[in-house]
Amino acid sequence: MVITLESLKKNDLITKYMQMGNDYIGNMGALEHSLHHAEYISGLCYEILDTLGYSKREAELGAMAGYLHDIGNLVNRYGHGMSGALIAFNVLMEMGMEPEEVAVIIGAIGNHEEHANGKPVNNVAAAVIVTDKSDVHRSRVRKDDFSLFTARDRVNYAVTKSSIKADAEEKTITLKLEIDTSVCSVMEYFEIFLTKMLMCRHAAEHLQCELKIMINEIRLL
Ligand SMILES: [Fe+2]
Ligand SMILES: [Fe+2]
Repeated sequence: MVITLESLKKNDLITKYMQMGNDYIGNMGALEHSLHHAEYISGLCYEILDTLGYSKREAELGAMAGYLHDIGNLVNRYGHGMSGALIAFNVLMEMGMEPEEVAVIIGAIGNHEEHANGKPVNNVAAAVIVTDKSDVHRSRVRKDDFSLFTARDRVNYAVTKSSIKADAEEKTITLKLEIDTSVCSVMEYFEIFLTKMLMCRHAAEHLQCELKIMINEIRLL
């Protein structure tokens, strides 16, 4: 059966699991991983793959992987890529998706975390990595008390604007950030996000693109 992003959005179990996962990690003070994050990454994955000339179906698989990528937060924040891939496997097989397509999606979900040795194992995985790591923003920090901020909270809080765009002609993927340097310096951003940025560079290379990073209108990479 041909499963689409719309079919996933209409699936109450998926919605419920994603909301509960976001609530659970919220209880331990982690960044927001809401349906908004899921939909945002989903839309960006589609846009990047479509812009770079991949088939509409591959872009749709990207949209679905992007939508589901953080569903594993329901099990535990630690290893949520692996547990999320297994949840997605069950749900998508149950919905009747073609097993070859399920494989692409779970490979992408299981490889989106840098701490879990995630790698751009397929085009969809590469799209999920670059888009997910680009969603850095003040609005994702849930803590009110600045003294309780982790380094990751501080970096996210410093970012007031973020966007990512692919250019098929130039063969580039550009990440643009606006950082409030009174909260965190550009150096600090890199210190904390270096592994994420390296992962993004490899993912962009998998899509035959160069990764460009612009912070406060200055090109850093
Ligand atoms: Fe994640
Ligand atoms: Fe995410």
